[in-house]
Amino acid sequence: MLETRAADVRHFATSVFDPQQASAEEWSKVLAYWRLRNEEDFPGEPWPTDADNMQNVRQHTPLHVVHRILALDGQGDIVGSLNMSVRREGTPGYPAHAPFVDVWGGVRRSHRRQGVASTLMRTLLTSMEERGKTTATVKASLPEGHAFLAAIGAAEKHRSIENRMAFADLDGAALARWRAEALAAGRGLRMEIHAGRVPFERLATLMAPLSALLDEVPTTALERPPMRFELEDFRAWYAEIDRRGGEHFLVLLLDGNEVAAVCDASWNQLYPDRMFQRLTAVARHWRGKGLAKGVKALMLELVRERHPEVTMAVTHNAEVNAPMLSINRRLGFAAHRHDAVYQIGPESLRAFLSTRPLATREQHQ
Ligand SMILES: CC(C)(COP(=O)(O)OP(=O)(O)OC[C@H]1O[C@@H](n2cnc3c(N)ncnc32)[C@H](O)[C@@H]1OP(=O)(O)O)[C@@H](O)C(=O)NCCC(=O)NCCS
Repeated sequence: MLETRAADVRHFATSVFDPQQASAEEWSKVLAYWRLRNEEDFPGEPWPTDADNMQNVRQHTPLHVVHRILALDGQGDIVGSLNMSVRREGTPGYPAHAPFVDVWGGVRRSHRRQGVASTLMRTLLTSMEERGKTTATVKASLPEGHAFLAAIGAAEKHRSIENRMAFADLDGAALARWRAEALAAGRGLRMEIHAGRVPFERLATLMAPLSALLDEVPTTALERPPMRFELEDFRAWYAEIDRRGGEHFLVLLLDGNEVAAVCDASWNQLYPDRMFQRLTAVARHWRGKGLAKGVKALMLELVRERHPEVTMAVTHNAEVNAPMLSINRRLGFAAHRHDAVYQIGPESLRAFLSTRPLATREQHQ
């Protein structure tokens, strides 16, 4: 569906991309554009097939709605994109999410520094005004992203590191020691391990305790709603991995029925050589006893045994998370990429756009 409107002096137009309504021709343009952007920005990184991408983007997301905007040049070719994800109205906890919009996007290298992203920011501003959103959250990984976000007046709120580890370098003896020390220190703790899927009845009972641990993950100065695990998200994710192949791994150390430590990770058929680390957390009164090292060791042993083809583990850690960074360094993780999360409100966007002649021009059309 193309609702095109003229946008700026260099004849960039913006259009809505609706994955449910798009024609085959629109899809092929969008898929080619996404592929090109990945090659340009993250050369060498694997990318799903077009069919997988189409399915992923078309899949219903129970808790969020994504609005997708494209920037088109005079020939109708896609030169940039803006994605805005908001919490679906009426879902649990909606009021805490209501002020926020998560934003990501980019511009083809050949069309940068020509005002394409600024043009897309007008759409963001309009959308925030219409929906009453006060805070847009954007992550930047590349120098151009940081420069752009600083230029538009966004404030850096949080820094994180994508750390990667080669399985070949893992010290098996150290893993065994960490596992043994954790189990000895937590005498009386029970291990619960799931590989593949966690039954929904069990997941349902874990949402509250795991959410409490997740919400303690440091996010520096980021303004955000509470971080929660939600069963609906798991339903959607499991439906997706049922279709394209994937596994969820969960390692728990339990004190009676209470979660003392957790580690969860995933494996994706699309990137069979990788393991993606998710949450690792230890309940406050169990900290300082080696339980985090224990659950991480159990997880790495589990994934290595189940997927010998996995060569790399990938994890994201807050720069301020000294304990997690220290454990990961000892396991052999090294920084692959430094990211920062920025936030901006409508006032700052408006102030930036008022300095951009193309934005002013657009208002008169
Ligand atoms: C960030 C990005 C979207 C900017 O797109 P763009 O169309 O080139 O941005 P604009 O032309 O509208 O730039 C607006 C202002 O931002 C600043 N800016 C943008 N890119 C910059 C760079 N590489 N270095 C310094 N300043 C930069 C400038 O002040 C620029 O105004 P000017 O060109 O008049 O000096 C683009 O570089 C990109 O796709 N990067 C990779 C993906 C990404 O990081 N996305 C953002 C996070 S999701």
